[in-house]
Amino acid sequence: MKHMWVAVLFLTRSVIALTVTTKVINEASYMTTPYLTEPDTTTGVLHAPPKLFTNVSGSVDDSGTCQCSVYLPDTTFPVQKAEKLEIIATTLSEKFELELSKVREYSKMIELYEKQILNLTIKVEHMEQSSVSYTELDFQLLKVEISDLKRLVTQLKSSLGGSNVIVEQIYLEPVSTAASGIILAFHQHKLKESLTLNITNLTILVNELESLDKNNVLAIRRQIVSLQNRLKECEESRNKTTVPPYFPPGSCIHRGLLNVSQPYVVKLNWRGFSYKYGSWGRDYSPSNPEEEVYWVAPLNTNGRYLEYYRIYSSFDNLLLFRPLYESRVTYGEGSGAALYNNFLYYHAYGSRQMVKHNIKTNTAALRKDLPDAVTGNRFSYAGVLWQDIDFAVDESGLWVIYSTEHNMGNIVISKLNETTLDVLNTWQTRQYKPSVSNAFMLCGVLYATRPMNTRKEEIFYMYDTSTGQEGRVSVIMDKKLDTIQSIDYSPSDQKLYVYNDGYLLRYDVNFQS
Ligand SMILES: *[C@@H]1O[C@H](CO)[C@@H](O)[C@H](O)[C@H]1NC(C)=O
Ligand SMILES: *[C@@H]1O[C@H](CO)[C@@H](O)[C@H](O)[C@H]1NC(C)=O
Ligand SMILES: *[C@@H]1O[C@H](CO)[C@@H](O)[C@H](O)[C@H]1NC(C)=O
Ligand SMILES: *[C@@H]1O[C@H](CO)[C@@H](O)[C@H](O)[C@H]1NC(C)=O
Ligand SMILES: *[C@@H]1O[C@H](CO)[C@@H](O)[C@H](O)[C@H]1NC(C)=O
Ligand SMILES: *[C@@H]1O[C@H](CO)[C@@H](O)[C@H](O)[C@H]1NC(C)=O
Ligand SMILES: *[C@@H]1O[C@H](CO)[C@@H](O)[C@H](O)[C@H]1NC(C)=O
Repeated sequence: MKHMWVAVLFLTRSVIALTVTTKVINEASYMTTPYLTEPDTTTGVLHAPPKLFTNVSGSVDDSGTCQCSVYLPDTTFPVQKAEKLEIIATTLSEKFELELSKVREYSKMIELYEKQILNLTIKVEHMEQSSVSYTELDFQLLKVEISDLKRLVTQLKSSLGGSNVIVEQIYLEPVSTAASGIILAFHQHKLKESLTLNITNLTILVNELESLDKNNVLAIRRQIVSLQNRLKECEESRNKTTVPPYFPPGSCIHRGLLNVSQPYVVKLNWRGFSYKYGSWGRDYSPSNPEEEVYWVAPLNTNGRYLEYYRIYSSFDNLLLFRPLYESRVTYGEGSGAALYNNFLYYHAYGSRQMVKHNIKTNTAALRKDLPDAVTGNRFSYAGVLWQDIDFAVDESGLWVIYSTEHNMGNIVISKLNETTLDVLNTWQTRQYKPSVSNAFMLCGVLYATRPMNTRKEEIFYMYDTSTGQEGRVSVIMDKKLDTIQSIDYSPSDQKLYVYNDGYLLRYDVNFQS
């Protein structure tokens, strides 16, 4: 193989030589023919070593300079190779330029990468320094928290079992950004199942997230904290609503008033804002406690005369100002009226008479003096004019709250026979009537209030007619305006009806068990 390569090489060379020779000869014959006669005279060098110089034609120009074409054989100076080399060199330098520009480009990119690495380093350092760390521990923590939640739910479930407590709606926030805006809202009766389901879902979600997106760990943790808080609230509200148990209307098996709710503002009285004095409430008919009858009796604007009253046959009608009757009496005095068994009882103007008024016929069924009662705005309530005689209704029937000179203006309580308006029994308290803002009866116990400020009233005094014991209590009642003109308890729904500077407020009552 090697020999053959050599042979080919030689062959190639001789072919080149041959071609060049031919070319030179042709050239010479064309150019030099006229001058060939004097080659030797000009330069003897041309003759001398024939090995170096082959046959050369020359010529002498006008100024005597000898010109000749020389054939230089391949072995002496490889023109073709030089040419080739030159071409290669050019190509190479072009390539070099190209590579060099690439290198410049690369170095630019390297600079950019360096910057990016620097940025990343800073970020990583920041992450390391800050308390936020995304580690497996987070997921472990999450799982522990979720199992805690599950335990809580199980407890809640068992403690809720069988009870008919009404827990308010509980709203759970969206579980995570990944679970995008799933809002959990459910009623108490669905609470047990829903909560369990959702916490089951949380577990699934966390497992998914663990393999997906670690950055949501914090979001999830926040959700879990919120869930925990809400569970706690739910548990607490359950405990709270369990404490005052249910006592059917009319019953007095509880141990008295525990608490009242926030006031529910029913509406402004039907005569308007300037009718700041008056009373309102719900009838109690022991034979028909379910029957809904309401009265609203705003006094005339002088705060003294009871003239017009309205009777509503349902709460809706009251809200819609659709009275069953709107009637007139001439006149009652003060805001002490009360409705019992479809009769309106009120204090007759300018007297110490009690009036039993038939609301269906709008006629006075009976009038009778209240013995020893002091009237004429002498022992009215604090901040309320002309309420010397205040009727009250509780589970046991009709009462009247007033004062006597004999009892030095302190509250006197009398139980009335509603048929005859006779006083059945009387209790003398040691609470000065003009120092309390109002009073009502509940299961034979008188409760009296006093203002704490313009927005709060306190039920602070009680007198138990069954034992003759008086005592201090402190139940705060929020109010909407400064003065409470009347408070009437209705055994039908166990609510307090309050006339507050023209507004009709209603409160739920909780009892001690
Ligand atoms: C040179 O060329 C001339 C004319 O072509 C010829 O006569 C002569 O013999 C040649 N000499 C040699 C050495 O070839
Ligand atoms: C490095 O961070 C800065 C600030 O966040 C930003 O403006 C810059 O574009 C970042 N550089 C690179 C190369 O990412
Ligand atoms: C939670 O439970 C409720 C009721 O089963 C369901 O509608 C809601 O989609 C659940 N939440 C999640 C995150 O699955
Ligand atoms: C939540 O759980 C319920 C019942 O197990 C299932 O139907 C629902 O697809 C779950 N939701 C999510 C977001 O995993
Ligand atoms: C709720 O009551 C139960 C016992 O009935 C008690 O173990 C639990 O600590 C109470 N929870 C709160 C938040 O008061
Ligand atoms: C009484 O009611 C108030 C306000 O509604 C509430 O904050 C408080 O916990 C209640 N107290 C009791 C003993 O129920
Ligand atoms: C009320 O008076 C009527 C008529 O005199 C009488 O029949 C009734 O028994 C009395 N009621 C009470 C509780 O004393």
